[in-house]
Amino acid sequence: MAKILKLNEISEVAEKEFPAGYTFAADVKNPDGIMLRSFNMHDYPLNDELLAVARAGAGTNNIPIPDCTAKGIVVFNTPGANANAVKELVLCELLLGGRKIVDAIDWVKTLKGTEGISKAVEKGKSKFVGHEITGKTLGVIGLGAIGVMVANAAADLGMKVLGYDPYLSVQGALHLYTTTEMSDLDSLLKKADFITVHVPLTPSTEKMFNAETFAKMKEGSVLINNSRGELVDELFSKPCAAVNWSAISPTSPPINSSENTISSACRTSAPPPPKRRTTAPPWPPKNWSTTSKTVTSRTA
Ligand SMILES: NC(=O)c1ccc[n+]([C@@H]2O[C@H](COP(=O)([O-])OP(=O)(O)OC[C@H]3O[C@@H](n4cnc5c(N)ncnc54)[C@H](O)[C@@H]3O)[C@@H](O)[C@H]2O)c1
Repeated sequence: MAKILKLNEISEVAEKEFPAGYTFAADVKNPDGIMLRSFNMHDYPLNDELLAVARAGAGTNNIPIPDCTAKGIVVFNTPGANANAVKELVLCELLLGGRKIVDAIDWVKTLKGTEGISKAVEKGKSKFVGHEITGKTLGVIGLGAIGVMVANAAADLGMKVLGYDPYLSVQGALHLYTTTEMSDLDSLLKKADFITVHVPLTPSTEKMFNAETFAKMKEGSVLINNSRGELVDELFSKPCAAVNWSAISPTSPPINSSENTISSACRTSAPPPPKRRTTAPPWPPKNWSTTSKTVTSRTA
């Protein structure tokens, strides 16, 4: 029976997928298959018995695909499996990027034990005024499993959505609200108040956010990166600890997300949300796959 090596902790759901007799453990020698999440396999020896590598996640940049191809080892991933989780993080980061919520929480903690705390709050709260995201423009770079969900959710919140994806799949296009305005990259960079990036890390996307890109961005705009840190030139990136989020103002040195502000005027009465298609089919579809790789698990 086949031996499957776990290079990371994998959900127990995956274990139940293997028929009886399969070994699925972290200490397997000469495995027939490998399952992993973020383990970096680039310097990992590929034994002769190895038939397949399965990544419980979307990105495959931690797997030496050319070496696997040369040895006839099939590489699988699970595109879309965690798309909703990432979408929710992006929504949270959009709100954090528009308001000084983290700073306000920190400030409130300093007021513990203060006499007349209500008055102190009334007096001090104006320092944390922020901006609504309704009516703002969101640029979504990469309209795959995650990008489409983010674009549609942002439209539901009343944002104007610009999309850029030169390789947009038919599935992606079919699930995108028709109100999404497709754009070239330069126009998106110029117009967006918030930019969120959902592309794989490849040689062509590495450092796609660099001095030239930032120079084109609108002053005070916010970049949200939940994909891979290497997409942003490290000179401009200062990710938060909890999420791989770089919130950057193109006209100022690298700053913390909580210090970031949007310089455009605050809208107190937002325009009505754009008309949109609300009957999109469920997303991502069960058999979603953007590459020739196969979806093997519903667990990432
Ligand atoms: N933070 C996390 O926990 C987490 C979770 C899942 C995925 N990710 C990252 O997010 C990335 C996207 O995930 P996904 O599931 O949406 O992948 P996906 O394959 O469904 O979509 C990627 C999209 O990017 C587009 N694309 C490729 N190169 C591009 C370019 N140069 N410019 C614009 N668009 C381009 C493709 O056409 C595709 O539509 C993954 O590759 C992974 O690195 C992060």
